[in-house]
Amino acid sequence: MTLTEFLSKEQRRFPKSTGNFTALFTDLVVAAKIVSKAVNHAGLISILGATGETNVQGEEVQKLDEHANEAFVTTMLCGGHLAGMASEEIEGVITIPAEYPKGGYLLLFDPLDGSSNIDVNISVGTIFSILKAPAKKGAVVIDDFLQPGTEQVCAGYVLYGSSTMLVYTTGHGVHGFTLDPTIGEFMLSHEDIRIPSKGTTYSINEGNSRNWHSNTADYIAKVKEDGTKARYVGSLVADFHRNLLKGGVFLYPGDKENPNGKLRLLYEANPLAFIVEAAGGASITATNGHDAERTLDVTPTGLHQRVSLIIGSTDNVEEAASFYNK
Ligand code: AHG
Ligand code: MN
Ligand code: MN
Repeated sequence: MTLTEFLSKEQRRFPKSTGNFTALFTDLVVAAKIVSKAVNHAGLISILGATGETNVQGEEVQKLDEHANEAFVTTMLCGGHLAGMASEEIEGVITIPAEYPKGGYLLLFDPLDGSSNIDVNISVGTIFSILKAPAKKGAVVIDDFLQPGTEQVCAGYVLYGSSTMLVYTTGHGVHGFTLDPTIGEFMLSHEDIRIPSKGTTYSINEGNSRNWHSNTADYIAKVKEDGTKARYVGSLVADFHRNLLKGGVFLYPGDKENPNGKLRLLYEANPLAFIVEAAGGASITATNGHDAERTLDVTPTGLHQRVSLIIGSTDNVEEAASFYNK
């Protein structure tokens, strides 16, 4: 079954639906294919390396970050289904120009996740989150995007790996599609993904251990004691996808140097938290190094706010939470 057929089957489950969401998602898939093509030819089309600029995150912008951002912004701008967008690569809100119709959704995205891995041909990804735009006149503002993760109507990611996969949820199961490059269609390959309740791998950047709070250090010591295997790609989408299929836990906790960790709430933590819960897993955020709370319940305070993220199989996340609630 193609993604197009799957989307129309899903739409038929909601007789009152207008088709706007399906059309929005179809535009998103076009952007994903454009980025997939660039990622798969990166070494041949001088798109590797850095642009020399730094983004709002204070991070060096890679050429593929910029290309991916361009692909999503230009593909999504004129479709008439969005009231606005927010991108990891853009400081403020991306409003819809007056000459284009506006729609009822907000799109937030990390156009290229895992930028440090682009030049060495390790899997990278795109992460996206869709919210309802508040019913109001006039251009959207930052506050319109600051909705808790529970408000998401859709979340997904594209993994540009050994094959290009698109995984998404609208809260009714998590479904995976693999791009068949010979026909340019995403084909249903992983219907109704369920994350194993317990996994045997943990993912964390051990290079930060000198800055870890004692609860992180104690938890990691425990998982090592238990013989849990270490797997860390350095691309959130790749680490998350492995845990989603095989079970396991990923941590990017806050530490003494970066109290809120590194990952962004609105377009990294929240979309993946929505997906993992829809697949039967769990996601918590222990912002001040303790008092773990459900990621989806966090009230956002900024477009690019960072949060600590502990996400994956329920049993593993629950065990981790017990160290953060001490
Ligand atoms: P991005 O490339 O969008 O900035 O995201 C990179 C993130 C995420 O993909 C990954 O989990 C994390 O950075 C790795 O960070 P470290 O290199 O500090 O481990
Ligand atoms: Mn990212
Ligand atoms: Mn990014």
